[in-house]
Amino acid sequence: MKYIKFNNFTKEKKLWVNRIIYWYDKNKRNLMWRKPENQNFYSVWISEIMLQQTNVQTVEKYFLAFKKKWPTFDSFLNANLNDILKIWQGLGYYQRAKNIYKTLQILKKKKIKVTYNELIKLPGIGDYSAAAISAILEDQNHAVVDGNIKRILSRVFNIDSQSKKFTTQVYKKAKELTPNSGNGDYCQALMDIGATICKPKQVNCNICPLKKFCDFFITKKKILRKKLVAKKKKVGVTFVYEFENEIYVEKSEEAFLHGLMKFQTSDFLEYRSNYEYTKKKKLLDMKNNFVSKNSNLGFVEHHFTNFHLVLFIKKIEIYKKFYDPKGLWIFKKDFFNYPFSNLMIKVFKKI
Ligand code: ADE
Repeated sequence: MKYIKFNNFTKEKKLWVNRIIYWYDKNKRNLMWRKPENQNFYSVWISEIMLQQTNVQTVEKYFLAFKKKWPTFDSFLNANLNDILKIWQGLGYYQRAKNIYKTLQILKKKKIKVTYNELIKLPGIGDYSAAAISAILEDQNHAVVDGNIKRILSRVFNIDSQSKKFTTQVYKKAKELTPNSGNGDYCQALMDIGATICKPKQVNCNICPLKKFCDFFITKKKILRKKLVAKKKKVGVTFVYEFENEIYVEKSEEAFLHGLMKFQTSDFLEYRSNYEYTKKKKLLDMKNNFVSKNSNLGFVEHHFTNFHLVLFIKKIEIYKKFYDPKGLWIFKKDFFNYPFSNLMIKVFKKI
């Protein structure tokens, strides 16, 4: 096989871009937000924000729910934050949902152009989203660099992902190679190649349109397994107060679970520290609360970005309701009408 080196940059760049766009034309994934009726700012914006945090299959479900609730941008204009958080429930990264709400308030007051320079000023829209949205909708040619694209470029051009200069070098390559026109198809093609062929732990070079350019393929490299760095472990206790068919819930603080609803929960302590103490202290606090029965319901586990949590669940049945301005009583059957985090949904499923 004849390999292609970037000796004559202009010529080889043309070949690179054409191949990628040709491949996309034949192989692109049939995704909801790519349908003609979704080629508008509202749909592409929401899908791109969702896609930053999880895979395409999960996003399809959430995107569908979003569009069902607010089919058009006009219908979305009066959405409130709680409703957005409710739809977002389970996707995680709730700050993104809040930024969508903040952006919506700005868009209510002024019209913006779908250009990189205008988009980047909006809350929650960073370099990647501004480049992707403006490429997909307006064929602007800012380099789009997401995790998939970084991985592809690092393999093709043998850029060491452990090096301090990794990001600078990848961006440099990405900028050089971004086409003047056709960037929308080009960037989405690379996303698809990254998701289906040049995957993190598995590659299928035989069907890759880039193999003739690719150092990883040419030099028959193997994927190195990353050493896993164990995350810190923390423990905590959550207290589910139950009165007949009602449960007591409260709004979390912004810094913890983004103001979503939660059960009363202790601080999280480093594993091996004395979490029994927290549990007991909380239990003492509850003494006045008319306890008729309390039971341990085991625990749930949850991965946060920088630690792994084991959360013990204590169910406390009471015979007289208490009132606290911090919280409210809701019927168990209405649980899913409120925005709870994934962690609390796990807890709820145990009770
Ligand atoms: N990941 C991020 N944006 C994407 C898009 N538009 N299509 C497919 N995967 C993506």
